[in-house]
Amino acid sequence: MKIEILPQGMKERNTSVQVLSLPPDKSIFHRLLIIGSLSRSTIRIPISAIEDLPIDIISTILAMQSLGVPIEISRSEIELQGVGIGNYHEPKHQLNCGNSGTTARLLMGLLCGQKFSSKLTGDSSLSSRPMKRLADLLNNELGSDITTAPEGKMPVTINGKDLHPGEVLLPVASAQMKSALLIAGLHMNGRVLVTEPQQSRDHTEKMLAAFGIEIYSENTTTTLTSPQHFDIQREITYNVPSDISSAGFLIAAAVIARKNIILKNVGINLTRKKFLDILIASGLEIEISSLKEEFGEERATLEIFGVESKISRRFEVRIEDIPKIIDEIPLLAALACFCNGQTVISNAGELRNKESDRISLLVKNLTAFGALVKETEDGFTIFGDEKFIPKGGAIEHYGDHRIAMAMAVMTLKSKESVTISDAEVVSVSYPNFYRDLALIIGKERINIS
Ligand code: S3P
Repeated sequence: MKIEILPQGMKERNTSVQVLSLPPDKSIFHRLLIIGSLSRSTIRIPISAIEDLPIDIISTILAMQSLGVPIEISRSEIELQGVGIGNYHEPKHQLNCGNSGTTARLLMGLLCGQKFSSKLTGDSSLSSRPMKRLADLLNNELGSDITTAPEGKMPVTINGKDLHPGEVLLPVASAQMKSALLIAGLHMNGRVLVTEPQQSRDHTEKMLAAFGIEIYSENTTTTLTSPQHFDIQREITYNVPSDISSAGFLIAAAVIARKNIILKNVGINLTRKKFLDILIASGLEIEISSLKEEFGEERATLEIFGVESKISRRFEVRIEDIPKIIDEIPLLAALACFCNGQTVISNAGELRNKESDRISLLVKNLTAFGALVKETEDGFTIFGDEKFIPKGGAIEHYGDHRIAMAMAVMTLKSKESVTISDAEVVSVSYPNFYRDLALIIGKERINIS
């Protein structure tokens, strides 16, 4: 599929408020499928339609089914029957994690303490991402037996083994690695302690606690002692909040296209909403209402006043913010081009290990569209200007969904047309992205071929 985004016409803007729906939070959904399967409960997860689910979630569903977890998908919900710790079946074939790093890392933690062997594979992007550093931590600190392909990449072979307690210091802040270690920690007798250099997203800790597991976090250290008992009702309905990372693209589009939008039931976990604070400090007008907490995860309605907002002050990003905005950095980079002054992103070397090398790919795209950017080893500096008008051209996403969406949003300000080839790449996290973008900017601006 090829998408062409046309420049804004001279027609008067329609200022009616759009209420938009977003895909479910990917991070929470992966954990619900994996942690839920360790319980003995029936878990119902309402969905709008199977086609609206991020493809990454489908990868986790298929992997869990291959491990013998009963998961049924109907029009309006997914029903998972937890099998309990240690009750998976040996998979008959390799588990394909597709594009999903979270699926691969969390499964490494889950499978290393089972009584059988398994093998994880992934698509070409996932197969170029580092797996050895997590394998080494699980092997060296908890006694697992995981081998990676040469250069520490996929496929990953996991020979299930009895694990032992351990204390782990993560070399980088990473929710995926932390979660893998904690999930492995449920499969042993004794304590696992994980310390990160900075705090990363805490969905695993929150979900385990909501499922009755005793888990303690202080500063950046989390501990869990097993054996543990999952203490939840026999049947639960878990409403996964909308994904705040996907919301970011619509919020930015609303500000650039000067539209007001409402997003309901958006997850606003403190370890995920930092980019909103950064945008608010730069001039975003937003109202957060209808706050509600379910299973330890806060959600709210976000009303974005794109008509009134003027994001023009450079972004202030501190080192400890980086893990909390790691997935929003492409979007923040795109918006920083319109902010007066220098936005500096540093200590973000992990971006080179994402679905693409996001530092070099961002710099390449931003430069191609006319922005002033300087690449550094662990980040970049953007020299922004509120009068910046991006050039037209082709977005180069190299299969990375967030680069495609960030650049699509940034180039809404271009006076020339912009194209995205293999545009369906966005389905990894946001299958209806172009439909929702069209609701904000007008469908006459988007050509699909
Ligand atoms: C995720 C953690 C982040 C993020 C990824 C999802 C998770 O990676 O980039 O998209 O669900 O745990 P880190 O492991 O670098 O924190």
